[in-house]
Amino acid sequence: MCGIFGCVLKEGNAAPVIHGSLKRLEYRGYDSVGEVTLHNGQIFIKKDQGKIDEVHKLHNLDDLPGNIGIGHTRWATHGAPLQVNAHPHVDCSGQIALVHNGIVENFVELKLELENRGHVFQSKTDTEVIVHLIEDVLNVNPSLSLTDAVLETIKKLCGSYAIAVVSTKEPDKIVCARNESPLVIGVNENALYCASDIPAFLPLTKKAVIIDDGELVTLSLKGLEIRKIADSSLVTREPKLIDWTPEMAVKQGYPHFMIKEIHEQPDCLRNTLRLQEHYLDLMATFPDRAREVFLVACGTSYHACLAASYMFSKLAFLATYPVIASEFIEQHGKSVNIDSTILAVSQSGETADTLAAVNCARQRAATILGLTNAIGSTLTRVSRVYIGQQSGPEIGVAATKTFTSQLSVMAQIALRLAKKRGKVSQDEMDYLADRLQKLPDIVKTIIETQEEKVKQIAKKYKEAKTFFFLGRGISTATAYEGRLKLMEIAYVPAIAFPAGESKHGPISLIEPGFPVVFICPKDEAHKTLIGNIMEMKARGASIIAVIEEGDEEIKNLADDYIEVPKDIPEVLSPIPFIIPLQLLAYYMAVERGFNPDTPRNLAKSVTVK
Ligand code: F6R
Repeated sequence: MCGIFGCVLKEGNAAPVIHGSLKRLEYRGYDSVGEVTLHNGQIFIKKDQGKIDEVHKLHNLDDLPGNIGIGHTRWATHGAPLQVNAHPHVDCSGQIALVHNGIVENFVELKLELENRGHVFQSKTDTEVIVHLIEDVLNVNPSLSLTDAVLETIKKLCGSYAIAVVSTKEPDKIVCARNESPLVIGVNENALYCASDIPAFLPLTKKAVIIDDGELVTLSLKGLEIRKIADSSLVTREPKLIDWTPEMAVKQGYPHFMIKEIHEQPDCLRNTLRLQEHYLDLMATFPDRAREVFLVACGTSYHACLAASYMFSKLAFLATYPVIASEFIEQHGKSVNIDSTILAVSQSGETADTLAAVNCARQRAATILGLTNAIGSTLTRVSRVYIGQQSGPEIGVAATKTFTSQLSVMAQIALRLAKKRGKVSQDEMDYLADRLQKLPDIVKTIIETQEEKVKQIAKKYKEAKTFFFLGRGISTATAYEGRLKLMEIAYVPAIAFPAGESKHGPISLIEPGFPVVFICPKDEAHKTLIGNIMEMKARGASIIAVIEEGDEEIKNLADDYIEVPKDIPEVLSPIPFIIPLQLLAYYMAVERGFNPDTPRNLAKSVTVK
């Protein structure tokens, strides 16, 4: 997730307008920033790594000349957050500049073709191929307009993009286009704006034109022209009046970041499915060779590791050890060695406990692999190989979208490993790969169809003093994560156990009306889980079950149930099954009068041990 912005002004300098608008998009990414303007047929660029304020202090982002320009605030996906990788990127001649939000999946092939034709690349980004492709199209056919050159270029791209392009050859225009990354146009009498999100231009205009996937827009002082990318046909669309306050705008109309981020999960999961094969293969190579593999993390990231240990075991027949990072040194510090591989998982890449475990393992020559949402974080610097989880910045303190993204990435690594080790038949691999591709839509369906129901369940149980969360097998991880969410933002003490373990002690807590949440995918443990539900029911517990659609047996036993679509493979089940529990925690917090975005005593990144 990055932020793009552009403006064409009747009067005045574009640079301070771009700067102010990028500040309002900073929640989309903040590891580097850049601007380009056009003036007297020349291009002027400033860009650097760092937060917008830091870069402004060093370079003064406001003094670029000209009334037209584009800008970008970055959240690195391909290429570390360095000046050279910051947007805008330019072609070989330095006459065309471009900003991009999204992922170009086929950039490796495109880059090779372009290099063979003599293009020289400066950065490690996927984005830079787009601007060289535009140049290439214009080299072949110099009479094409910028709009037509961009149209021809984007037909060659696979993946997601919202782009804005300027060129000295047509210095009065910005051409932008979108596919699966957001793009909106702001309109007033004196200016046109393009941006990733409405908040970017909200103080400048309340009139917005929403651009759809597969559309290209040309902005100039003459107005805006929207075309369909497929056949270049013109589209007419009237601007809408946006009546959001600036605070609502940053949250895109949602009351809290947490619920916005829960709703972003289908898109984040789609992004994880665009990871480069090469990195996934590399990540799978080391566990395959290691004598022992530890999955090390804290909090929600640890729960993702716990689920992943079932994935590695069931798919690749590989035993891995999930370890809570703060315990790693005590438990394994003396035995970890050159034959050990540590997969450290950390959304922030800066968690002190995780980094301490990694440090200890590094000193003993173990191989460190990193999975993180923050490219450029300490974890990426100390890992032999790392992979980005592609979730974009998460503002709500409670991890939601980053959890499901971590699970999706680790499922893909486990599948690669299974293939390498020849443990899964081709048919099963194809089936699992197909279901993984469908997960973004499945998660979308759950949010669309179950949110209201979960809200009602939260209303019903808002006074409950304690909650139980139970699941078997991989759903144990889902149960632990559901409990953590509820405790940390709704302040409801909660207990989670593997369901089979509850009769060894915790069941003594049950008394009439005690809410027990069961996670019930239709896997091999389903029958046994029904037994566990009966045990609880017999003692008067109120059963809240998360079930697969049409699971009549559990529906009949439960006091309340939430449904997820059926036919989800067991190893992937934590991704859809956690969604209702994230919603439950969110609505419980709201019902109980707490702000879910800022739970007391907690910080987003825990940098102390
Ligand atoms: C819970 C939560 C925390 C983090 C934990 C690890 O919602 O956000 O439990 O998961 O502090 O953080 P990272 O993944 O940044 O290492």
